[in-house]
Amino acid sequence: MQVRVLVLALSLTVSLSAGCTQQSTSTNNGAKPTPSAAATPDAFAAARGIYAKDCQECHGTDGAGGRVKIDDGTRLSVPSLREGHALRHPNSEFVKQITEGGDGMPAFKDKLNQAQIDELINFIRHEFQGGVTPPPEKDMKMK
Ligand code: HEC
Repeated sequence: MQVRVLVLALSLTVSLSAGCTQQSTSTNNGAKPTPSAAATPDAFAAARGIYAKDCQECHGTDGAGGRVKIDDGTRLSVPSLREGHALRHPNSEFVKQITEGGDGMPAFKDKLNQAQIDELINFIRHEFQGGVTPPPEKDMKMK
């Protein structure tokens, strides 16, 4: 069983790379192949969904924030999740901000459970901060 799958995968690889060689003169040359969903399972699928629905309108698709106008017309200056304070704040500060909100951000304690919040923070650390090790918890100053 396993051997057959391997053979299949090998012949697939061979035919794929043959296809690439033939295409090398086309204008598509250099385009990144789209990875198949099975090859790269998205560990952050759930968090990504929540972020898109609940966070993105303010924090932006890439977490860069900036000046945004929200539904009720309020203009907000949203700090980047990619740099600055966000890199210096330990996970506990993120938890607090997401749970309780404040300074223009709504509270999510009635909407998200602890596991979802932890996953969102993981997602932020990996996607927006390049997988940094979060700062130690002893620094409890917010600003
Ligand atoms: C209505 C706009 C808005 C929405 C929606 C929103 N935020 Fe925020 N968020 C803000 C603002 C504004 C701040 C800065 C608050 C401050 O100055 O203390 C902030 C701060 C944060 C911080 C703290 C960053 C730091 O530097 O420590 C985190 C983490 C965060 N938001 C995550 C989220 C997540 C996750 C969601 C979705 C579940 C979300 N936010 C939804 C506006 C928003």
